Amino acid sequence: MPAPESAPPDTPPPVPADPLRMAPLTLPGDRELVLRVMPLPADLNANGDIFGGWIMAQVDLAGAVLPSRIARGRIATVAVNQFVFKQAVSLGDLLSFYARIQRVGKTSVTVHVEVFAERNPADLQVVKVTEASITYVAIDREGKPRPLPAR
Ligand SMILES: CC(C)(COP(=O)(O)OP(=O)(O)OC[C@H]1O[C@@H](n2cnc3c(N)ncnc32)[C@H](O)[C@@H]1OP(=O)(O)O)[C@@H](O)C(=O)NCCC(=O)NCCS
Repeated sequence: MPAPESAPPDTPPPVPADPLRMAPLTLPGDRELVLRVMPLPADLNANGDIFGGWIMAQVDLAGAVLPSRIARGRIATVAVNQFVFKQAVSLGDLLSFYARIQRVGKTSVTVHVEVFAERNPADLQVVKVTEASITYVAIDREGKPRPLPAR
Protein backbone atom coordinates (compact mmCIF):
# COMPACT_ATOMS: atom_id res chain seq x y z
CA MET A 1 0.00 0.00 0.00
CA PRO A 2 1.49 3.42 -1.00
CA ALA A 3 2.38 5.84 1.80
CA PRO A 4 -0.12 8.71 2.25
CA GLU A 5 0.97 11.88 0.47
CA SER A 6 2.30 14.64 2.70
CA ALA A 7 3.44 18.18 1.85
CA PRO A 8 7.12 18.38 0.83
CA PRO A 9 9.26 19.76 3.65
CA ASP A 10 10.02 22.98 1.75
CA THR A 11 6.36 23.97 1.21
CA PRO A 12 5.90 27.55 2.53
CA PRO A 13 3.34 28.02 5.30
CA PRO A 14 -0.04 29.33 4.17
CA VAL A 15 -0.09 33.15 3.82
CA PRO A 16 -2.47 34.73 6.34
CA ALA A 17 -5.42 36.43 4.69
CA ASP A 18 -4.83 40.15 4.11
CA PRO A 19 -8.13 41.80 5.03
CA LEU A 20 -7.43 44.83 2.81
CA ARG A 21 -6.95 42.54 -0.20
CA MET A 22 -10.10 40.62 0.61
CA ALA A 23 -12.26 43.72 0.89
CA PRO A 24 -14.79 43.92 -1.96
CA LEU A 25 -13.80 47.54 -2.55
CA THR A 26 -10.53 49.22 -1.66
CA LEU A 27 -9.86 52.83 -0.77
CA PRO A 28 -9.07 54.99 -3.82
CA GLY A 29 -5.51 56.00 -4.67
CA ASP A 30 -6.22 58.57 -7.39
CA ARG A 31 -7.91 61.16 -5.16
CA GLU A 32 -6.71 63.02 -2.13
CA LEU A 33 -7.57 61.92 1.38
CA VAL A 34 -8.78 65.12 3.04
CA LEU A 35 -10.44 63.84 6.22
CA ARG A 36 -10.75 60.66 8.29
CA VAL A 37 -13.14 60.50 11.22
CA MET A 38 -15.20 58.02 13.25
CA PRO A 39 -18.70 59.13 14.29
CA LEU A 40 -19.72 59.06 17.96
CA PRO A 41 -22.93 57.85 19.63
CA ALA A 42 -24.02 61.52 19.86
CA ASP A 43 -24.17 61.55 16.02
CA LEU A 44 -26.90 58.86 15.80
CA ASN A 45 -30.38 59.57 14.47
CA ALA A 46 -33.68 58.08 15.65
CA ASN A 47 -33.16 55.00 13.41
CA GLY A 48 -29.85 54.17 15.08
CA ASP A 49 -27.83 55.18 11.99
CA ILE A 50 -25.54 58.20 11.74
CA PHE A 51 -27.47 61.45 11.25
CA GLY A 52 -27.29 62.69 7.65
CA GLY A 53 -26.79 66.29 8.78
CA TRP A 54 -23.62 65.28 10.60
CA ILE A 55 -22.34 63.59 7.44
CA MET A 56 -23.16 66.70 5.39
CA ALA A 57 -21.19 68.89 7.80
CA GLN A 58 -18.16 66.59 7.54
CA VAL A 59 -18.41 66.58 3.72
CA ASP A 60 -18.55 70.39 3.71
CA LEU A 61 -15.42 70.55 5.89
CA ALA A 62 -13.61 67.92 3.82
CA GLY A 63 -14.63 69.51 0.53
CA ALA A 64 -13.16 72.86 1.61
CA VAL A 65 -9.60 71.53 1.93
CA LEU A 66 -8.54 71.64 -1.75
CA PRO A 67 -10.41 74.90 -2.61
CA SER A 68 -8.80 76.60 0.43
CA ARG A 69 -5.38 75.72 -0.95
CA ILE A 70 -6.30 77.07 -4.39
CA ALA A 71 -7.95 80.24 -3.02
CA ARG A 72 -5.12 80.90 -0.54
CA GLY A 73 -7.54 82.68 1.77
CA ARG A 74 -11.16 82.77 2.88
CA ILE A 75 -13.77 80.75 1.05
CA ALA A 76 -17.51 80.25 1.46
CA THR A 77 -19.72 77.38 0.37
CA VAL A 78 -22.06 78.71 -2.30
CA ALA A 79 -23.78 75.54 -3.53
CA VAL A 80 -24.29 71.86 -2.87
CA ASN A 81 -24.80 70.73 -6.45
CA GLN A 82 -25.38 67.08 -5.66
CA PHE A 83 -25.51 64.99 -2.49
CA VAL A 84 -26.21 61.26 -2.44
CA PHE A 85 -26.44 59.07 0.65
CA LYS A 86 -25.69 55.72 -1.01
CA GLN A 87 -25.65 53.63 2.16
CA ALA A 88 -26.35 54.26 5.83
CA VAL A 89 -23.37 54.94 8.10
CA SER A 90 -23.21 52.90 11.30
CA LEU A 91 -21.56 53.42 14.65
CA GLY A 92 -18.03 51.99 14.48
CA ASP A 93 -17.56 52.84 10.78
CA LEU A 94 -14.26 54.61 10.07
CA LEU A 95 -15.05 57.24 7.42
CA SER A 96 -12.50 58.42 4.86
CA PHE A 97 -13.25 61.47 2.73
CA TYR A 98 -11.58 61.67 -0.68
CA ALA A 99 -11.72 64.80 -2.85
CA ARG A 100 -10.83 65.81 -6.38
CA ILE A 101 -11.23 69.13 -8.14
CA GLN A 102 -14.05 69.12 -10.69
CA ARG A 103 -13.85 72.69 -11.97
CA VAL A 104 -11.86 75.84 -11.31
CA GLY A 105 -13.63 79.05 -12.40
CA LYS A 106 -12.85 82.75 -11.99
CA THR A 107 -13.79 82.94 -8.31
CA SER A 108 -15.13 79.45 -7.59
CA VAL A 109 -13.88 75.90 -7.19
CA THR A 110 -16.13 72.85 -7.49
CA VAL A 111 -15.08 69.67 -5.70
CA HIS A 112 -16.27 66.09 -5.88
CA VAL A 113 -16.18 64.32 -2.51
CA GLU A 114 -16.57 60.59 -1.93
CA VAL A 115 -16.93 59.03 1.50
CA PHE A 116 -15.89 55.44 2.20
CA ALA A 117 -16.67 53.47 5.35
CA GLU A 118 -14.33 50.81 6.67
CA ARG A 119 -16.51 48.53 8.78
CA ASN A 120 -16.44 45.23 10.62
CA PRO A 121 -12.67 44.96 11.29
CA ALA A 122 -12.96 41.17 11.90
CA ASP A 123 -14.06 40.73 8.28
CA LEU A 124 -13.21 44.11 6.82
CA GLN A 125 -15.45 45.73 4.24
CA VAL A 126 -14.93 49.03 2.44
CA VAL A 127 -18.17 50.62 1.30
CA LYS A 128 -18.86 53.90 -0.50
CA VAL A 129 -21.52 55.58 1.63
CA THR A 130 -21.79 59.14 0.29
CA GLU A 131 -20.94 61.20 -2.77
CA ALA A 132 -21.29 64.95 -3.25
CA SER A 133 -20.38 67.88 -5.47
CA ILE A 134 -19.90 71.22 -3.74
CA THR A 135 -18.90 74.69 -5.00
CA TYR A 136 -16.84 77.10 -2.89
CA VAL A 137 -16.19 80.78 -3.68
CA ALA A 138 -13.08 82.74 -2.74
CA ILE A 139 -14.20 85.78 -0.76
CA ASP A 140 -12.56 89.02 0.35
CA ARG A 141 -12.78 90.74 3.74
CA GLU A 142 -16.24 92.07 2.90
CA GLY A 143 -17.44 88.58 2.00
CA LYS A 144 -17.60 89.44 -1.73
CA PRO A 145 -16.29 87.08 -4.43
CA ARG A 146 -12.64 87.67 -5.33
CA PRO A 147 -10.69 86.27 -8.29
CA LEU A 148 -8.69 83.13 -7.55
CA PRO A 149 -4.94 83.74 -7.46
CA ALA A 150 -2.89 82.61 -10.46
CA ARG A 151 -1.82 78.97 -10.07
C1 LIG B 1 -20.69 83.00 -1.81
C2 LIG B 1 -21.11 84.43 -2.18
C3 LIG B 1 -20.09 85.43 -1.65
C4 LIG B 1 -21.14 84.49 -3.72
O1 LIG B 1 -21.62 85.77 -4.04
P1 LIG B 1 -22.53 85.96 -5.35
O2 LIG B 1 -22.70 87.41 -5.59
O3 LIG B 1 -23.73 85.08 -5.18
O4 LIG B 1 -21.57 85.30 -6.44
P2 LIG B 1 -21.52 85.45 -8.00
O5 LIG B 1 -22.89 85.41 -8.60
O6 LIG B 1 -20.62 86.62 -8.35
O7 LIG B 1 -20.77 84.08 -8.35
C5 LIG B 1 -19.49 83.81 -7.81
C6 LIG B 1 -19.08 82.45 -8.24
O8 LIG B 1 -19.94 81.49 -7.63
C7 LIG B 1 -20.55 80.68 -8.62
N1 LIG B 1 -21.91 80.39 -8.18
C8 LIG B 1 -22.82 81.27 -7.74
N2 LIG B 1 -23.97 80.64 -7.47
C9 LIG B 1 -23.76 79.33 -7.74
C10 LIG B 1 -24.57 78.17 -7.68
N3 LIG B 1 -25.84 78.24 -7.28
N4 LIG B 1 -24.04 77.01 -8.04
C11 LIG B 1 -22.75 76.90 -8.45
N5 LIG B 1 -21.93 78.00 -8.55
C12 LIG B 1 -22.45 79.18 -8.20
C13 LIG B 1 -20.55 81.51 -9.88
O9 LIG B 1 -20.61 80.70 -11.04
C14 LIG B 1 -19.23 82.21 -9.75
O10 LIG B 1 -18.17 81.38 -10.11
P3 LIG B 1 -16.98 81.83 -11.14
O11 LIG B 1 -16.55 83.21 -10.72
O12 LIG B 1 -15.89 80.83 -10.91
O13 LIG B 1 -17.56 81.79 -12.50
C15 LIG B 1 -22.53 84.77 -1.63
O14 LIG B 1 -23.51 84.05 -2.37
C16 LIG B 1 -22.64 84.42 -0.15
O15 LIG B 1 -22.11 85.13 0.69
N6 LIG B 1 -23.35 83.31 0.15
C17 LIG B 1 -23.43 82.82 1.53
C18 LIG B 1 -22.26 81.88 1.80
C19 LIG B 1 -22.45 81.14 3.09
O16 LIG B 1 -22.87 81.68 4.08
N7 LIG B 1 -22.14 79.84 3.04
C20 LIG B 1 -22.34 78.95 4.18
C21 LIG B 1 -21.22 79.03 5.18
S1 LIG B 1 -19.60 78.92 4.49
